[in-house]
Amino acid sequence: MSANPEKTAFLKDIRSIRTYLDKPIDNEILKDLVDAARMAPTARNIQPWEFVVIDDRAVLAELAETHGNGRFIKDAAAAIMVLCHKSSEYYIEDGSAATQNIIIAARLYDLKSCWIGGCKGPYYENDDIPMCEGVPCIIPPLYDDLCTRLKEIVKAPMDLEVISIVSLGYSDEDFKAQKRSLNEVMHWNQYAR
Ligand SMILES: Cc1cc2nc3c(=O)[nH]c(=O)nc-3n(C[C@H](O)[C@H](O)[C@H](O)COP(=O)(O)O)c2cc1C
Repeated sequence: MSANPEKTAFLKDIRSIRTYLDKPIDNEILKDLVDAARMAPTARNIQPWEFVVIDDRAVLAELAETHGNGRFIKDAAAAIMVLCHKSSEYYIEDGSAATQNIIIAARLYDLKSCWIGGCKGPYYENDDIPMCEGVPCIIPPLYDDLCTRLKEIVKAPMDLEVISIVSLGYSDEDFKAQKRSLNEVMHWNQYAR
């Protein structure tokens, strides 16, 4: 079989979009996005995830108010919060794979989306956190506050970690973030060219 870039064109077209039309998403579509998410690969097939689908405007507004980098959640038709049990060693990778499945599945339904960062490991890097010689300072209160609050809003158990929130909606926006070129990032057999 020879290469046919048209096959992957839809993947290359996916971009993070943060403005949405005032148009609801059918519940069955949202269900199918989670169904696609749960099929993602996980280390040792542990499937440490839980998915909270949010389409209640009041809850979306609360999340937007809480998450400094996700203010636009308030305008989304829906969002899916991906949470993972921290007891599993690769929970961040597992939850990330599920997140990307949601984004790809959403594209297949002509939905636009944006991955909004969750809380990972002992540090949560964001602009409000002071840096100590280039690395985030030891667990600032904001980390705990943000993650606790996000979980409180959706009534999730505290031993889960928020891996991501994916905002979803129909949109006219066609913003295309720049990508590094294939030549620049790809290496054959050995890194050195
Ligand atoms: C782990 C991760 C966390 C992200 N967190 C945020 C976020 O909190 N807020 C946001 O607006 N975008 C977030 N993004 C989206 C990126 O900003 C976006 O992917 C990047 O700018 C490239 O743009 P593109 O997705 O349109 O190609 C996140 C993406 C990833 C993979």
